[in-house]
Amino acid sequence: MSKYPFLDLATINEPYADDIKNAVGRIIDSGRYIGGDEVETFNKELARFCHTPYAIGVSNGLDALTLILEGYKVLGTLNPGDEVIVPANTYIASVLAVTRAGLTPVLVDPDETTMNLSAAGISRAITSRTRAIMPVHLYGRIAWDNEICELALRHNLIVIEDAAQSIGAQAADNGLFGSRTAAGIGHAGALSFYPTKNMGALGDAGAVITHDDKLAEAVRALANYGSDKRYHNIYAGYNCRLDPIQAAILRVKLHDIHNVNARRFERAVAYNNELKHPLVTKPHFSKAATDCVWHQYVIRVSGNNRDAMRQYLTSQGVGTDIHYATPPHLQPCYSNLSHGDLNLTETLCNEVLSLPISDCTSVADAAHIAHIINKFSI
Ligand SMILES: Cc1ncc(COP(=O)(O)O)c(C=O)c1O
Repeated sequence: MSKYPFLDLATINEPYADDIKNAVGRIIDSGRYIGGDEVETFNKELARFCHTPYAIGVSNGLDALTLILEGYKVLGTLNPGDEVIVPANTYIASVLAVTRAGLTPVLVDPDETTMNLSAAGISRAITSRTRAIMPVHLYGRIAWDNEICELALRHNLIVIEDAAQSIGAQAADNGLFGSRTAAGIGHAGALSFYPTKNMGALGDAGAVITHDDKLAEAVRALANYGSDKRYHNIYAGYNCRLDPIQAAILRVKLHDIHNVNARRFERAVAYNNELKHPLVTKPHFSKAATDCVWHQYVIRVSGNNRDAMRQYLTSQGVGTDIHYATPPHLQPCYSNLSHGDLNLTETLCNEVLSLPISDCTSVADAAHIAHIINKFSI
């Protein structure tokens, strides 16, 4: 293993192991392996955390996004072919959810500083068919401000947050319904608890967060075969439920997520203070400790030197990753997807490099990794 691994999930989960074993034991003893109190309690705790009336644990983040879009379809709020504005530099799951629901993704380049959707980018992409926007809080940074809020209100757009990478991040500006917490800012938001996330399950898991009681009802039914009551199906739904074992594990982790995020912030501060290399652009750093939960610490390496930098770091025992080397619109499955110029997104894909920032990396390690980077020569 590298001296500075990018991520080591066994190490991440070790401090929780006893509590997780107790929680899983509770489920084994309960004899209830689908639904039940554990899932309901997790849903309540998560809704409280997000300052929303509803949280619905589901199978994973992609399903959470899809269920939101399908939910708005069965309610008649969204219709096939409606346009949804999505940042082009997101993980492919954001786009998959839109196309899977029979809606049209309109991909836009992000703002170069925040790497997130901006009001200017959204404005340029709005057409008479735009019905929704999907701000993705990429790398853990909130993609929301007053201008985006005003645009959404003025154009009557549904705001669906892809908060897969950003549990616990806080917007500086008011959300649409009073919550500033990621996934609670817009009409509905999706969380992912994929094991590598800041709050990871031990398997796949996700959640739909919403202020909208009709949407909550529709999502609950759609995730359970479209059933509103036993053996009565109002929709042709899916099986996208959260397992009680994962709910029990996530309840353990939810109690600690603010501490996890605070520790990631400390590592981001160390990188930010110590990184000094002419080819390296550091990620945007606002002094507010809460608008980014640093799911990834992503630098840009200019002049076609990213891969050489990565090789050099590997040789020095530093694990890295790339989020993402190929954008959704250049994936083979989307060879027929229409889109405009996405030059910035394509440039970013050649320049981004993610550094270790999890609990496997101490603050001193982060400073040391920065010093190793500072010594990189072509
Ligand atoms: C931005 C983004 N959206 C959606 C997802 C999908 O989440 P999941 O892997 O739980 O399906 C992910 C996770 O990998 C993600 O990073």
